[in-house]
Amino acid sequence: MLPITIREAELADAQRLLDIERISFITDLIPLRQMRYLISKAKAVTYVAEYEGRVIGYVMVLVPKHPRPARIYSIAVDPAHRGQKVAQRLMHIALGYLRSLQYAVVRLEVRADDEGAQTLYRQFGFTPIRHMAQYYADGAAALKMQLTLEVPSPSE
Ligand SMILES: CC(C)(COP(=O)(O)OP(=O)(O)OC[C@H]1O[C@@H](n2cnc3c(N)ncnc32)[C@H](O)[C@@H]1OP(=O)(O)O)[C@@H](O)C(=O)NCCC(=O)NCCS
Repeated sequence: MLPITIREAELADAQRLLDIERISFITDLIPLRQMRYLISKAKAVTYVAEYEGRVIGYVMVLVPKHPRPARIYSIAVDPAHRGQKVAQRLMHIALGYLRSLQYAVVRLEVRADDEGAQTLYRQFGFTPIRHMAQYYADGAAALKMQLTLEVPSPSE
């Protein structure tokens, strides 16, 4: 398994995250200003995976006020390091964090034609709840997926 470390993103990571985003997505890209905002100010948490001192992937999670559901906003891994469970480990950390915040529901949108990402999400228990035509700027449809988290009772 690739020896990665996972930590929270800092503002200094913004440009590298944008670079990974730009080689990973063909549409609906985040401007640098929004990336910086999401890392530093918004109700959001971003985890980055580092390998040999370089960021090779990230997951960005939106954490709105309860009882609104949390949302996996974006996840991407540098193509040079895909297929080595980096996304899986990022998702594991992100979902653990959401459990610790007592979120009951996590949602996300994924391209309807992206079988790989959907498989990743299904591994964690996400199931499709809605098909949304013409969701992305290039006209592609999205699948909204949802996961119900088991929140520990206060006595645990
Ligand atoms: C989707 C993405 C984040 C996966 O990253 P990754 O580090 O390669 O994924 P992992 O190695 O952790 O894969 C975990 C599981 O997801 C599934 N999976 C991931 N990519 C897959 C692919 N291209 N095809 C089929 N299954 C895939 C597999 O089931 C895999 O488990 P396995 O290796 O035991 O079969 C990466 O391909 C990426 O950055 N894609 C472009 C951006 C994107 O589409 N993000 C999701 C948008 S919603």
